[in-house]
Amino acid sequence: MTRKRQLLGSSVDRARFVDRLIERWLHERSAVTLYQLAQARLGGDERLGRFLDEERLHAEMLERLLAEVGVAPREQPAYGSASLAASEMAMLLDAARADLEPRHVVQVLLAAERLDVAGWELLLALAREAGLDEDWLRSFRSADRAESEHEHYLHDQLLKLERAALFSHPAP
Ligand SMILES: [Fe+2]
Ligand SMILES: [Fe+2]
Repeated sequence: MTRKRQLLGSSVDRARFVDRLIERWLHERSAVTLYQLAQARLGGDERLGRFLDEERLHAEMLERLLAEVGVAPREQPAYGSASLAASEMAMLLDAARADLEPRHVVQVLLAAERLDVAGWELLLALAREAGLDEDWLRSFRSADRAESEHEHYLHDQLLKLERAALFSHPAP
């Protein structure tokens, strides 16, 4: 048995793939912070607490995978896709730090989750084509499913809050 399983196909540009992994990792870590900010504003929605835990697990999973390819994401500057993700999330974190109404907090979370869903879809498709090891692909699929649930729930919550705000005044 070889010491290490082959993680990726041999024709894959490793640095680019790592860049995508770091992008996801950055995104997941920022999502944890976003949920912490949101929880402070929205009070004890248990569902949000679970989503926060799931974002943390996604970040940890990516960090383990990066360790397996010999990369410590905390120790290297973001470039390429990772640096783009960092700017996107910095914008959302800035928005979430403002004094927002609950519906706007949910709107920021939903925007982050939409990026999250799109990000996992892309990474999953690329990882599959890159021949990533099946165990990791399974973890990616499970993250992708979790993100869809996050997105749906936040979408429903936003709709509820927006309806309440829009129709709160009796008709003249
Ligand atoms: Fe996530
Ligand atoms: Fe998420």
